[in-house]
Amino acid sequence: MKSALQRIALIVLIGCSSCSLQAQDLSITVTKRYLNLPVSQAQNRGMMQFMVKDKPERAFKIRLAAKPDYWVFCDMAALQGKTITIRYDGNREGLTKIYQADNMAGQDSLYREKNRPQYHFSTRRGWINDPNGMIYYAGEYHLFYQHNPYEREWENMSWGHAVSRDMIHWEELPTALSPDSLGTMFSGSTVIDYANTAGFNQGNVPAMVAFYTVDTPEKQIQCMAYSLDKGRTWTKYAKNPLIDSKAKWNSKDTRDPRVFWYAPGNHWVMVLNERDGHSIYTSKNMKAWTYESHVTGFWECPDLFELPIDGDTTKTKWVMYGASATYMIGSFDGKTFTPESGKHYYVTGTIYAAQTFANMPPNDPRRIQIGWGRVQQPGMPFNNMMLLPTELQLRTTGNGLRLSSVPVKETEQLFEKVQQGTSLSATDANEKLKAFNQLDRFRVRTTLKLSHATSAGLSLFGQRLLEYDMNGNRINGVFYSPENMTSMELTADIYVDRTSIEVFIDGGAYSYSLERKPVSGNTESLKVWGTAIEVKELAMYTAKSIWK
Ligand code: FRU
Repeated sequence: MKSALQRIALIVLIGCSSCSLQAQDLSITVTKRYLNLPVSQAQNRGMMQFMVKDKPERAFKIRLAAKPDYWVFCDMAALQGKTITIRYDGNREGLTKIYQADNMAGQDSLYREKNRPQYHFSTRRGWINDPNGMIYYAGEYHLFYQHNPYEREWENMSWGHAVSRDMIHWEELPTALSPDSLGTMFSGSTVIDYANTAGFNQGNVPAMVAFYTVDTPEKQIQCMAYSLDKGRTWTKYAKNPLIDSKAKWNSKDTRDPRVFWYAPGNHWVMVLNERDGHSIYTSKNMKAWTYESHVTGFWECPDLFELPIDGDTTKTKWVMYGASATYMIGSFDGKTFTPESGKHYYVTGTIYAAQTFANMPPNDPRRIQIGWGRVQQPGMPFNNMMLLPTELQLRTTGNGLRLSSVPVKETEQLFEKVQQGTSLSATDANEKLKAFNQLDRFRVRTTLKLSHATSAGLSLFGQRLLEYDMNGNRINGVFYSPENMTSMELTADIYVDRTSIEVFIDGGAYSYSLERKPVSGNTESLKVWGTAIEVKELAMYTAKSIWK
């Protein structure tokens, strides 16, 4: 709780005719790390501005409230010792509650909140959506993401930032890119400019360069910024924007640059979503970009990467990827992507706008993806989450080449096998599954064999985690035909966290995710169902928390 001293003095400005301050603007000399701000979803948004010597330093929309549902914070590290004046054009009743402190409000219960995902990344406070700028560099995996630090809903788009040494345990760092005079920070990617093609490097420190979209009410433009301290602080390129293509496409929708180095052509490639598909641009210096080609049929958040076929690096194909997790397989010559097969999916559910890590270490050729989990965290001061990191592979199947995804091996440290069985009846399996009745998180891997049943699966407090309809070939409503069509078997690896469920079918041939929604009043806990099914394999794992 805050002491009276920690509260900021409210200065009533009387007779200030020349300055633009209003009566009851708030003035504070910043001496602590955090400014804690009370918010309520019941309030309308107003615009808050921090003025330093009459210059706007920060501006964001916030639902300031005298009776807060929860608190958010502003990191004041960059403003220590400065006197700021806080302007707010919304309901001003909450202004007197704002206070500075060495801790964010709620620090004591951080990561122990009731609906906090326990082994998935979520932000301390506010909203997150797309992963951005995913890159490995100098021992750290960087996860940037679309972030509203000031509310549990979408607004004020910024790049949040977290780092990890294993893609599992994350440390959230201060916001990397905040809105500026051009607009708000939409999705994008990062690269390391080893050859100093843009000239930002310093000595032997290569620049980490971020490409992002700036969103304005009129248009979306592509910009860059660079960091010489491992993504902690960023300098925006003075001559932004790099690309302004609204007129060419007669569309506001031009966004989400995905940039990578194309070694055979000795140039950079940018895949950019423009109106109705993904365009390719190229550049030698990251500053001047040339339009090359366009593939229609995608919306938002492109990714484009090369994968070995069945692990054989002498045979590769390229995957063109869109926000909804649909993809095309084809070839790419550095300027044009040529699709060679239809549009496919390998994952459905809460996933959206997934991205893969750039700059993986040379001894680790994996293509690792993290998707945004559109999962509500009810009643929490934070919202949504990231799904588990998964490895993408191209496999030859009876239907041709297909993407598959499985959780990366680093996830194994989270789980401890505590029960297993083979060739069980449903009754025997359910006896074992009872051991997990009280757990908020766990993993269950099972192979079910159907004989008399047209459908079978697993449920948790009445919610169907797995519903395999063998007659319609549907899993939870989505068409799926096992590789061995006549086996009547299905393997599901099910990851349950406090608010989410991820399921990987048949070694990742298909996967999906759900919000965790127990049927109200249902007491059945975890059980398999289906007439005369055999539970051929059952393995039950407890799950650790990634938070200290
Ligand atoms: C996808 C998306 C992106 C955009 C971002 C804005 O979820 O709409 O296209 O850059 O979210 O937050």
